[in-house]
Amino acid sequence: MAPLSLRWTMIEAGTMTTEELDERRRALSELNAQIHACHACELSRTRTRAVPGEGPIDAEIMLIGEAPGYYEDQQGRPFVGAAGQFLEQLLASIGLKRADVFIANVIKSRPPNNRDPLPEEIVACAPWLVQQIGIVRPKVIVTLGRYSMARYMPGTAISRVHGQGRKVNDAWVVPMYHPAAALHQGSLRKTIEDDFKKIPAYLDQARREIAAETAKPPVVLEPEPAQMKLF
Ligand code: URA
Repeated sequence: MAPLSLRWTMIEAGTMTTEELDERRRALSELNAQIHACHACELSRTRTRAVPGEGPIDAEIMLIGEAPGYYEDQQGRPFVGAAGQFLEQLLASIGLKRADVFIANVIKSRPPNNRDPLPEEIVACAPWLVQQIGIVRPKVIVTLGRYSMARYMPGTAISRVHGQGRKVNDAWVVPMYHPAAALHQGSLRKTIEDDFKKIPAYLDQARREIAAETAKPPVVLEPEPAQMKLF
């Protein structure tokens, strides 16, 4: 499989100005400040640091995990523990580094003892991810594990749909097993490795769709017929 080419930014595609990118950077840093100050759920009492997520403002690919674990909580960065190391290997297998993608989580504060997030915590945290996606506007969203998949495909079994992308609004959403699950269950390891290799094709597809959309000739409105003088 050919490695993914360097990020194909919207600036190169001529669809975004540097001013717009600066504006989005400003919006994201403001959002991060709000996440760090958030007390919308009980997790804010027990966390060491909130973990908003990180990556290029114009990342074409966004990976969405579940929630920070111990090391993420200590460092304030997503996927820096064992699952993160495996994630970096998976990215390397398609020619990417973690700095090429945006990495976020459904939940921005660590649940005590890494327990599953509660429904009310997911609801309280949801607006942050919505805004991150709105600012970064990824072409491909890879959901890692069932909590992030449930945002897009509620009630779906991951065993049935992993690796199968679906267009949701403007992005291709590709559900995958969580790297931590794959680390602990040998048979899933090969599955997630194979699923990751499908990401470049989804990205190509998304780029082609955007290129076709931007190449469309502008809609020319017919001039209004001159009003006929009645007398
Ligand atoms: N698992 C996740 O889902 N997110 C992290 O940031 C780390 C581990």
